[in-house]
Amino acid sequence: MANSEALVPPQHIAIIMDGNGRWAKQRGLPRTAGHAAGAESFRRIANYCRTLGVKYLTVYAFSTENWKRSQDEIAGIMRLLRRYLEEALRDMEKNRVCFRFFGDLTRLSPQLQKLCLDAQSRSQDYDVQVNFCLNYGGRDEIVHAARAFATEVAQGKRKPEELTEGLFENFLYSAGVPDPELVIRPSGEKRTSNFLLWQSAYSEYVFMNVLWPDFTPEHLDEAIAEYHRRNRRFGGT
Ligand code: IPE
Ligand code: IPE
Ligand code: MG
Repeated sequence: MANSEALVPPQHIAIIMDGNGRWAKQRGLPRTAGHAAGAESFRRIANYCRTLGVKYLTVYAFSTENWKRSQDEIAGIMRLLRRYLEEALRDMEKNRVCFRFFGDLTRLSPQLQKLCLDAQSRSQDYDVQVNFCLNYGGRDEIVHAARAFATEVAQGKRKPEELTEGLFENFLYSAGVPDPELVIRPSGEKRTSNFLLWQSAYSEYVFMNVLWPDFTPEHLDEAIAEYHRRNRRFGGT
């Protein structure tokens, strides 16, 4: 177990779980094997976050752009998600994780949608809240929110001039969840890939040269230590 001495973790950490495919390729394995290893890594890190006392963990599991991948790979990822959620529902009491899902779930299979809804409704008031980003895109989220607000205007419930940043946030998938202080991207890529565009406006980004399946609690400690070295000014001096 990593040494977490004296590092008070941020209350909300977000992770772009990237690098599964490259991890598999390095080993001559199919990409799906990389996703299976990535799912293990997620279990490990979610547990570690609970140990540290992190309140919210948001993970990017499948983006609105990931539908461009092969049918085989998508089916493999969906199978792993199904298995993970079935297991999470079974071990709910033990893991004490509260689930929320960010993204447009309507494109997922009815079976997977039901598992998501069950996981969300049956896990409340637990220690850690995991926000699973599934068929999630930051741009899609903003458009979805704008449409929901416009609908209320059209229904006469609201006036356009009522809209503020604070009100708009209530229409996002992340409504009620504080913005992440820290966003971690493993795998060596240095881009957001459409993750939490609104919420990460003032987040500290830590890019790490490790593939997600190899990501350990020590890497999380390292990212948190790096976060503590940053000077957050929020536009001030
Ligand atoms: C992240 O790993 C998992 C998903 C996007 C679903 P990748 O599959 O993107 O792995 P690389 O980037 O190809 O190594
Ligand atoms: C971002 O990774 C999405 C997830 C980790 C779920 P990608 O692998 O899809 O991003 P790009 O293609 O490198 O930008
Ligand atoms: Mg990738």
